[in-house]
Parts: sequence; C-alpha cells; structure tokens
Amino acid sequence: MVVLGIDIGGSGIKAAPVDIDTGRLVAPRHRIVTPSPAEPDAVAGVVVDLVRHFDWHGPVGCTFPGVVKAGHTLTAANLGEPWVGLDVDALLTARCACPVTLMNDADAAGLAEVRFGAGAGRSGVVLLLTLGTGIGSALFHDGVLVPNTELGHLQLRGKDAEQRAAARVRDEKKLTWKQYAELVNEYLALVERALWPDLIIIGGGVSAKAERWFHLLHTRAELLPAALANNAGIVGAALWTEWRPDRRMSDE
Ligand code: BGC
Repeated sequence: MVVLGIDIGGSGIKAAPVDIDTGRLVAPRHRIVTPSPAEPDAVAGVVVDLVRHFDWHGPVGCTFPGVVKAGHTLTAANLGEPWVGLDVDALLTARCACPVTLMNDADAAGLAEVRFGAGAGRSGVVLLLTLGTGIGSALFHDGVLVPNTELGHLQLRGKDAEQRAAARVRDEKKLTWKQYAELVNEYLALVERALWPDLIIIGGGVSAKAERWFHLLHTRAELLPAALANNAGIVGAALWTEWRPDRRMSDE
C-alpha cells in the first residue's frame, strides 16, 4: 500500500509517496518552503500544493511539530499560537479532499526508525531524540509508541531543554562540536536519570554528521545515529495512517 507522507517543519514542508510495507519512497521527495508566518491557512495551502504536485487522491499521513491528539494540535512551540486547539485532521482533509491523519513529527520519525531504521528489531525501551529547531522525542517499549512525550521541554538549568541543546543553539551560538556535545551530554544525562532507555537514537540534521561528534557523547544506554535521516518524518507519517490507535478502534 502506498500513502503520501508529508512532514511539516519550521523551514520546509516535504512530501513523498511511501510504500508502507518497505518504507521506501516511490517517487522523489518534493519540498516547499514553510510560509512565514506559518499560519494554519497558509500551511494548509502548501499541503494542498504538495498533494496536487503528486496528483494524489489516496490517504495522507502528515507530521506536526507539536502535541497532536486525535488529529487536534494542542501545542505549537515553534509554529505559533493560532495552531493551538485546531482540528487539523479535519482542516487538511477538507482542503486536500483526501483523508489526512496527523501526528507529532518526532513520533513519526521514531516510528520510521523503529520499523525500518536504527531501532528495527529492537526490544526494550527505545528513545528517539530529534535535534533540530527544537528537540522532539519518541518513546517506545517493545516497539509500541507512547505518543507526545515532549522531552524537549524538560527543564535544564531553568530553561526548556530545547533552548539549551537543540541544533539551532549550535548554529546561533556558533558552537564547536565539542561545545555542543557538552550541552547534549547534559541533556542526555537528564533524560537518562528519568527514563533509563536501552537504546537512544539521535535524529535531526546533526545526526548526519555523527562521525564528527558522536564519539564525544556519553550515555549509559547504547547510542546510535538515525538511519533514515531526512525521510524519517515522511515515512513515519505514512505508517501512522495504518497504526493510529483511535482510528483502528473506531474502524473495528
Ligand atoms: C515540540 C515537539 C516537536 C519538537 C521538534 C518541540 O518544540 O514541542 O512537539 O516534536 O519541537 O519539532
């Protein structure tokens, strides 16, 4: 089965049709710059453009950088207040004239990694952390997702951890890899004190440069870079159309 996966991010909105049995993209990815301000109507317009680009009429899985419950966006730390409380499943389904299923972006990346990437076949507690504009998290036990964990908002020295250790901080403060690794180590220690994962997968653009700085990271758990890089969100969003528990239950 092929599903159109769409990944809404702070700088770009990316899409590709995904074979959900293999996790492979069946056509090249297409990216459109995120409108600024990223208001719901403007972002929905880009999602419609992407659906049209692929001449798509089937199911769509879509990510969102905030808490998503039953298709409603409940927070939007990096996209803005107008998103809070919206039924985005309904909005996008109406605008695209295709059934759209929304999920948190890090949860999507985690699903894809656990199914096809660095966490494939792994049991126990697996935690994916995405280091980007913010910090996203996806927590799994024996392959089952606990959605919306939001570990980027744990407090680290009096601030949201994502304001101390997201990849954006490295860019803004022009930190060396060593300086950035120290911040990430502090964050990983905080997370490990609370969760004791067996495997931590680090995603986001900085994971593509793992050879430059992963040797500076220290964790109790095994630590791996994400395997699917830029496509994890698209692939995971497509998978979610099949897995979303409230949809599955209401279908039965
Ligand atoms: C949001 C998360 C999201 C993460 C990465 C955080 O600010 O609260 O929901 O997964 O950024 O985009």
